[in-house]
Amino acid sequence: MSQRIAVLPGDGIGVEVTREAVALLELVAQRRGLDLDLWHLDYGADRFLRDGTTLPTQAFEEIRDTCAAILLGALGDPRVPSNDHARDILFGFRFGLDLYANIRPVRCLDDRLSPLKDHAAKAIDFTVFRENTEGVYVNVGGQVRRNTPDEIAINEDINTRKGVERIIRAAFEHARATGKKRVHMADKSNAMKHAHELWLRVFRLVSTEYPDITAKHLYVDALCLLMVRDPTLFDVIVTNNLFGDIVTDLGAALQGGLGMAGSANVHPGRRCAMFEPVHGSAPDIAGQDRANPFAAALTVGMMLTHLGHPDLEALIEDGVRECIRAHACTADVGGTLGTRAAAEALRARVTALLG
Ligand code: NAD
Ligand code: IPM
Ligand code: MN
Repeated sequence: MSQRIAVLPGDGIGVEVTREAVALLELVAQRRGLDLDLWHLDYGADRFLRDGTTLPTQAFEEIRDTCAAILLGALGDPRVPSNDHARDILFGFRFGLDLYANIRPVRCLDDRLSPLKDHAAKAIDFTVFRENTEGVYVNVGGQVRRNTPDEIAINEDINTRKGVERIIRAAFEHARATGKKRVHMADKSNAMKHAHELWLRVFRLVSTEYPDITAKHLYVDALCLLMVRDPTLFDVIVTNNLFGDIVTDLGAALQGGLGMAGSANVHPGRRCAMFEPVHGSAPDIAGQDRANPFAAALTVGMMLTHLGHPDLEALIEDGVRECIRAHACTADVGGTLGTRAAAEALRARVTALLG
């Protein structure tokens, strides 16, 4: 039976890297006889500016009910300074599908890409479990006395017991399933004594169910320090929505930059999940054939694992590693190729690896 995948290139370099990600997916599917049905959707800034559409309910429901995966490029366009369309679409899927685990691997594929003088690539290999449905992202709050000297702006930090518990449990389950021995939880419970005390308490409680795994608590500021000073300390890191967003850009820097960081948004046990690179639409380089297509390629790899083909994720990662080693890549990772040529180089290697 065919597996349906919704493809939303989105905005800016999202369009450029998704084009290449789809070509890679089609290549792998054709060579391995996977029956994939790609459903191309044009939701993004152009469409929003044309007719005000962000993510129609009917389309959302059809995706939810028929798709095994969503492949998203990136959303964000300087012509939409409010970012309304991006929030509607991105959070429409993350919240609407209850994709509570944003899984962001931080794996450096080549020594040349490590920015740390004392740590080679093999030292940088951990996974961040970012809570993806709560926190300040819920946008509970408001503004009063707007545009006056007495203005007040509030964004509440929403943390539910269920929400905190399920992401922490997902992190431990992942550690156990992948043979990892350590889970770190990062919060700011020293300052935020209500919301983050909940995280600390639930983390301690859940960790008792996993005696085989070492559970350690860190404040998020210290986490940032240690990620740079000694990334070998980490296997799995679990944290809230906002901190997860921030530490995974730092994590991307450890991998060679945003052009190397893939991600998955999942509700463990459910069918429909969303896959997107960690990077955004990069308006500064959009339309110039400069975007690194490898983050999107690694994201396709994560999607293939979700679709039941972990061997193909490993194969794509090997292909990317070979490209980086041969400098067959874009300038951000030390090559001279454009987006299209780097993606073509990857497809050539993946073709060879497929045998
Ligand atoms: P960004 O990730 O788009 O870019 C940050 C920097 O990294 C830029 O200098 C950019 O050129 C570089 N970069 C990013 N991806 C790259 C790639 N594949 N290859 C080479 N260089 C790359 O972040 P930003 O500039 O803060 O945000 C731009 C827009 O993207 C904003 O509207 C933001 O809200 C949006 N955004 C969307 C997503 C998403 O849809 N998932 C994620 C992050 C940011
Ligand atoms: C990400 C992005 C988004 C986030 C933005 C575009 C709202 O930065 O996916 O990392 O903060 O989740
Ligand atoms: Mn981000």
